[in-house]
Amino acid sequence: MDDEEMNTENLEAIRRDFQALSRLRNGKPPVYLDNACTTLVPKQVIEAMNEYYTEYPAGGEGRSQHWFSEEVSSRIEGVEGSRGRIARFINAASEKEIVFTSNTTHAINIVALGYPFKPGDVVLLGDKEHNSNLIPWLRLQRKGVIKVDQIESNEEGVYDLGDLERKLTGGRVRLISMGFTSNLTGYTIHAKEIVKVAHDHGVHVLLDGAQTVPHRAVDVRDIDADFLAFEIFGTNLRHHGIAPRHEPRRRPVIGIGEIEPGAQP
Ligand SMILES: Cc1ncc(COP(=O)(O)O)c(C=O)c1O
Repeated sequence: MDDEEMNTENLEAIRRDFQALSRLRNGKPPVYLDNACTTLVPKQVIEAMNEYYTEYPAGGEGRSQHWFSEEVSSRIEGVEGSRGRIARFINAASEKEIVFTSNTTHAINIVALGYPFKPGDVVLLGDKEHNSNLIPWLRLQRKGVIKVDQIESNEEGVYDLGDLERKLTGGRVRLISMGFTSNLTGYTIHAKEIVKVAHDHGVHVLLDGAQTVPHRAVDVRDIDADFLAFEIFGTNLRHHGIAPRHEPRRRPVIGIGEIEPGAQP
């Protein structure tokens, strides 16, 4: 939304979508800025979830034959529709690139546990990673699967491209996993630049987009990263939330929803 669209009238209309913002304390409504921790959920989303759980709590799209299931298919957009919307939202080439997970942390763990590392492989991180993009790799290191290294920051406090290139030249780095936007500083890395350097060295890139995708337009085809982990609704909806992973080049580690080719029921 540009400045012209963001006028007072629009702002009031947007605020009305979030019931919590109409509450008053000392006669004043809240100004909510804590989206980095928990993003407020619009009432349309709450109402849709409420309708689903109270009226027709079933699997749709042919998973069951009863009428609740038929209603799921006919009344809500459904999982497949949501996948398409999310694909368009991040400009993915196909909705097949979207894998639903329970949150960003889960998505990163799936990559960490499913990536075909070989002995001696190094995973390169930034030096200000959220625990979600640190613990999975440290656990793998403790098990002896990989070694973890970090890209140094320069005097401006952002990643040092020279250090990245030096580390890639060593030939041991298999994967770079970096916070796209820092939850500590708010800095957004030049992901496209990093991906280009990484791919020139045959190295894959995972971006932790937890703080990026909800805040700015992300074009995955332009950036060309191999994995993008993110969530949409914020941590309070963790157990229902949509936390897709953009995964153009690899099959999911956990098979969900699709029958594997050749698998017998
Ligand atoms: C940079 C970053 N990565 C990962 C996460 C974890 O996100 P999730 O709750 O979706 O696992 C957060 C949460 O605040 C974050 O700020």
